[in-house]
Amino acid sequence: MVIKYIIVLLFLLFQYSSAKVTYNVVTLGAKTDGRSDTKNAFLKAWNLACASTSPAIIAVPSGRYLIASAITFSGQTCKSKAITFNMYGTLVAPSSYNAIGNDEVWIKLYRVNHVTISGGTLDAQGGPLWACKSSGKTCPQGATTLGIYHSQNIVISKLRLLNSQMFHIAVYACTNTKLQGVNIVASGLSPNTDGIHLTSSTGITILNSKISTGDDCISIGPGNSNVWIEKVVCGPGHGISIGSLGWELQEAGVQNITVKTTTFIGTQNGLRIKTWARRSNGFVRNIVFKDATMMKVKYPIIIDGKYCPNNRNCPNDQVSGVKISNVAFEDVHGTSATQVAVKFDCSKGSPCSGIRLKNVNLVYVGKPAISSCSYAAGTASGILLPSSCL
Ligand SMILES: *[C@@H]1O[C@H](CO)[C@@H](O)[C@H](O)[C@H]1NC(C)=O
Repeated sequence: MVIKYIIVLLFLLFQYSSAKVTYNVVTLGAKTDGRSDTKNAFLKAWNLACASTSPAIIAVPSGRYLIASAITFSGQTCKSKAITFNMYGTLVAPSSYNAIGNDEVWIKLYRVNHVTISGGTLDAQGGPLWACKSSGKTCPQGATTLGIYHSQNIVISKLRLLNSQMFHIAVYACTNTKLQGVNIVASGLSPNTDGIHLTSSTGITILNSKISTGDDCISIGPGNSNVWIEKVVCGPGHGISIGSLGWELQEAGVQNITVKTTTFIGTQNGLRIKTWARRSNGFVRNIVFKDATMMKVKYPIIIDGKYCPNNRNCPNDQVSGVKISNVAFEDVHGTSATQVAVKFDCSKGSPCSGIRLKNVNLVYVGKPAISSCSYAAGTASGILLPSSCL
């Protein structure tokens, strides 16, 4: 009999200790009219969740929540083993771009572990800043919408991001982070609005996402390794890029990146590696680009060793020092919007090696497509249209 009670008691204790606690931002004072600043309610919810000894949920019911200035969710002192933002609502930035335009990031996760953001929308209202930039006036640089910095075990799921001032998502110095079902929407003419930018991170997975923007859909900067990207649709945009690399003389390399099952619609590039023409000890190695569909893409397959956006202010008196080796392009098919569908413009100073082409079938409307190689060595097999220049 006593044993039975003890078992029941233990069971209840176990239930209690693993039960989730929920903090609702509306209960904590957030107005859902999109006009009253709700930053304090979000910080209250975060601080409660963070101090909780059980896994915590931050509930964000439907509605519009103005976050009027940059906000950081810092995890350094958290007790909670896991925090989930259960989002139905939309977080909006102020319509005046100066409010966040000089901050690096609008919404930042900083030194957190086991944080999930599920659902919801982040609307940065970047339009007026893009207009300012294109007018040639002096404007702030603009903020990244969502920055995930120095964090581990992060899941971003089914989040929608609209009209960022700069990058939509920046992942910096993170490990074991997954982004899935992310939907990013900005104008194809918006400047520097990369969809997802990775720096100095390892074990990053990006799945089932759709990105339409004015710069790279995904860009993989220095110091990244073990990245898996699968089922991404990109367009408009500048494609999925490794780079830009080699700006610094001392620079961490990029290795073990897989980009699989992608579709590019009307993009400037498809699968790209870009390096500045500068001295650098950086490198790119062990890259697999596999199973891609190109629809009217200007440069479907491109290694650009003299990257120079808008042909302005580039160090083109030098050559890139970044060593590019062991890069596979496999099962890439569709249409190119220019005649040079495959372009390997590598560096005279450190030529590309171990480039592998297998089953590439790209057509250019009207004329046969061509490939162009400089300082590129490797092998080719399977169906190759245009024929290989390696
Ligand atoms: C390469 O990265 C994948 C994850 O994308 C990982 O599973 C694999 O172990 C890595 N390979 C090496 C050799 O590190």
